[in-house]
Amino acid sequence: MPNETHLPSDIAVNNYVNSLQDICRFFDQIVNKYEFIYPNYLNEQRRIAIYLNQLFNKRQATKILDIACGNGTLLNALGELNHKYELFGTDISKKSISFARRHSRKANFAITYNIIDWMNLETLFPRKFDSVLCIGNSLSHIHQKYHKHIFKKIHCLLTKGGAFILDIYSDWQALFREKKFFQPRGYSRFSKEIVFCNFINEFNLNHIKRHVCFSYYLNQRFSDEPQRMEIYTICQFPMALSKLMKDLKFAGFKDIKELKDLKNHRGLIYLMAPKG
Ligand SMILES: C[S@@+](CC[C@H](N)C(=O)[O-])C[C@H]1O[C@@H](n2cnc3c(N)ncnc32)[C@H](O)[C@@H]1O
Repeated sequence: MPNETHLPSDIAVNNYVNSLQDICRFFDQIVNKYEFIYPNYLNEQRRIAIYLNQLFNKRQATKILDIACGNGTLLNALGELNHKYELFGTDISKKSISFARRHSRKANFAITYNIIDWMNLETLFPRKFDSVLCIGNSLSHIHQKYHKHIFKKIHCLLTKGGAFILDIYSDWQALFREKKFFQPRGYSRFSKEIVFCNFINEFNLNHIKRHVCFSYYLNQRFSDEPQRMEIYTICQFPMALSKLMKDLKFAGFKDIKELKDLKNHRGLIYLMAPKG
């Protein structure tokens, strides 16, 4: 756990099922497995980076902060597209930050990484950014009642004319209706093993418990039992778009609009919230 982390006093009660330790542990464990979880992960991150690069060029945005940078793939893709960016990545998962740092050392541009919890984003002050990113369905890891608080900090971190870019599932209700499902997520070659990843989702009253299951097979012998299995579990909180918009406006964002061309096959929609 990073030292600077603190929690609002009511964070452990009621519907805050994830403790920050749970989030850290989960993402520490899966940081090198994104490609097994999301089919076409690298291409998808590059597609997003290409779109953002065009948007940032139009808005003359060069100082970019990704507050859920994970393994750093998006920032790396942005850096490759334009060496003029000043790139900053923060995340609560220590291993994600180490992974991202190692990854960016090979690049010929610099990215500054720090371990920071969203509740402590003010540790970045007095720095200001032309855009703050939080994508990959990241905000759903904490309950919506904390969003307002975080959005206010993000608002303060933006330059005049800066914008916050985030995503949200367009239809959480559809997930709820399905109660429980087993969804194959594709496979990938990892050294000599083939890795399959499945999600098993358990729906509770106010959160989804998501079991991410990896099965490792040797030599493509899928008829055999897997060589080994790993299961990691995390909670996610359904987010209502109307509540998200309300919280963004409360924090001072204005003229929020959907970035329609960026919509993805997983049902995520992307929003741009300019600083009011
Ligand atoms: C689903 S991953 C997405 C990573 C990356 N944006 C991507 O699309 O590949 C969510 C990320 O949010 C981070 N995260 C969750 N809660 C956080 C918090 N309270 N403060 C900072 N980072 C957090 C996790 O550690 C994780 O790296």
